Amino acid sequence: MSVRLAIVYYSTYGTNHRMVEIAAEAARAAGAEVRMLKAPETAPANVVAGVDPWKAHAEATAAVPTVTAADMEWADAYLISAPTRFGVMASQMRAFIDTLGGTWAKGALANKAISAMTSAQNLHGGQETTLLSFYATAIHWGAIVVAPGFTDPSIFKARGNPYGYSHTQGMEFGEDEKAAIGHQARRLVEIAARLKG
Ligand SMILES: Cc1cc2nc3c(=O)[nH]c(=O)nc-3n(C[C@H](O)[C@H](O)[C@H](O)COP(=O)(O)O)c2cc1C
Repeated sequence: MSVRLAIVYYSTYGTNHRMVEIAAEAARAAGAEVRMLKAPETAPANVVAGVDPWKAHAEATAAVPTVTAADMEWADAYLISAPTRFGVMASQMRAFIDTLGGTWAKGALANKAISAMTSAQNLHGGQETTLLSFYATAIHWGAIVVAPGFTDPSIFKARGNPYGYSHTQGMEFGEDEKAAIGHQARRLVEIAARLKG
C-alpha cells in the first residue's frame, strides 16, 4: 500500500505554496498518495484584502483544500511548510496545530514520519529556529523526524540546510532548489514506507 502523505502548508505571498507544489510532484513520482492542504487563514478578511499580493495569492489558491484533523489521522507522513515569522513558524500554521489536541490524545499523530520546510526574507533570518520549532512539536506528537541532513549533494547546492529546505523569498526556484526539495520529499516517503512496513 502506498504511503499517504499530507503536505500541510501556509503561504501569504506564494513562496511556500511553490515549495509544496515541487514537493508534491516529487512525492507522487515516488509513489505516494498526496494531499496538498493549506492551513486556515486567521488574519481578518479586511487585512488580507488590503495587501494586494496577499489577496492575489489567497484568490489564486482558493481551490486548495483546507487541512482538517481528519487529514492528519489519514496520513502516514507529514511534510509541513510555513514562513518564518520572527524566528518561528507563521501563526496560521501554529493555530492549526493547536487544534490537534484531541487528535494527539487519540495517539493519531504518533509514529508518523515528519519533515519540515520554511522560507524567510533574509538568508539568515531564522530558518533553522523555525524548523526546530516544528520538530519540537513533532517530538510531542511522538512523530519520527526525517530531516534531510546532508544525505544528498543537492542539500549543499541549495545553500546547505540539513534541518529542512529553506527558501529566501524572491529567489528563483532553479534546478538546485527543486532538487533539494525533491530529495527531501522522496526521503520522507521512503522512510515513511519503511515505518509502515
Ligand atoms: C510578521 C512577519 C514577520 C517576519 N519575520 C521574519 C523573520 O524573522 N526573518 C525573516 O527573514 N523574514 C521574516 N519575515 C518574512 C517572511 O518570512 C517572508 O515574507 C515569507 O518567508 C514569505 O513566504 P510566503 O511567500 O510563503 O508567504 C516576516 C514576515 C512577516 C509578515
